[in-house]
Amino acid sequence: MSVAPISVEPRLPDPRGPLSLAVTELLAERAPVNTLIQVEASIGDSDPLGLDLQLALYICYELHYRGFENVDPGWEWNAGLLHLRGRLENTFLAEVRDRVGDIGAEETAAEEMRRLSIEPADGTGLSYHLRDAGTWAQMREYFVHRSLYHLKEGDPHAWAIPRLIGQAKAGFVAVEFDEFGAGRGARLHQQLFADLLEAANLDSSYLGYIDQVPAEALAAVNLMSLFGLHRRLRGAAVGHFASTEITSPPGSQRLVDALRRMNAPQPCVDFYAEHVEADAVHEQVVRTDVVGDMVAREPHLDRDVVFGIRAHALVEDRLADHMMRCWADGDTSLRRPLD
Ligand SMILES: [Fe+2]
Ligand SMILES: [Fe+2]
Repeated sequence: MSVAPISVEPRLPDPRGPLSLAVTELLAERAPVNTLIQVEASIGDSDPLGLDLQLALYICYELHYRGFENVDPGWEWNAGLLHLRGRLENTFLAEVRDRVGDIGAEETAAEEMRRLSIEPADGTGLSYHLRDAGTWAQMREYFVHRSLYHLKEGDPHAWAIPRLIGQAKAGFVAVEFDEFGAGRGARLHQQLFADLLEAANLDSSYLGYIDQVPAEALAAVNLMSLFGLHRRLRGAAVGHFASTEITSPPGSQRLVDALRRMNAPQPCVDFYAEHVEADAVHEQVVRTDVVGDMVAREPHLDRDVVFGIRAHALVEDRLADHMMRCWADGDTSLRRPLD
């Protein structure tokens, strides 16, 4: 099988404030090898969930995924940049912890997952709106917001694999195997989403829309990278993963219904239909094999799993609320409207 060569590294995004400017200016240079640099950036003045900080953090994390065109890959492990990244992460994590609030000593992951799987009879929210009243233009905006995540679907969670052992690891990898196409490149969920974008007449290039999405879309992916890249947050990473899988089937079903109502191109329907079916199985695996096994081995991680589930809901709800608010006002939910 022959494949056309492509540029793996995306273009470095445009800065949106002093923090993202500090990072992009740094990346324009070669990474120093023998000197420890101190990056000047005053984080205290920035909104932890705002565009500038989230973009700066996103760029720092991206060095671990695909890097950037014309950026020295040596920056990935540059201690000066990592120090700045650590400060951005701490600010972000403190804000997320604050908004999630206290988790009681009696709260358990098992109970939290049970609650997650109860669908309200009269649900409201983004996927309900798209199913019942959404327009194709709104659906295309939704695709754009989600493109950052789905074009690297499976990757941020994969950082957690070496931190797991036993059945939890086996179950986790079994689910990821499906996300990664079960051995077939054309079936990578990342690829299925690229197919969806093409069919919807959108740009399918990796990070193609990073200059167009709001902070809320960046924060949703940053949270996964944050949890995945820190061993101490492995409980939260697993909670986030479980929450993704458990909430996926009903939400994906509503999107299938929405897309059929809109007579959307088949690859758009196929992406979500795949998630209705596969994630129903994944849900059972994460519940018992992954979370159940990990918490049995490391009971002190139980409340971290709860935190990961609630943090996932927090960032997803913020993104959904943003879209709903903009659309209610008749505005685009993107930083500039699609052509
Ligand atoms: Fe998937
Ligand atoms: Fe899944």
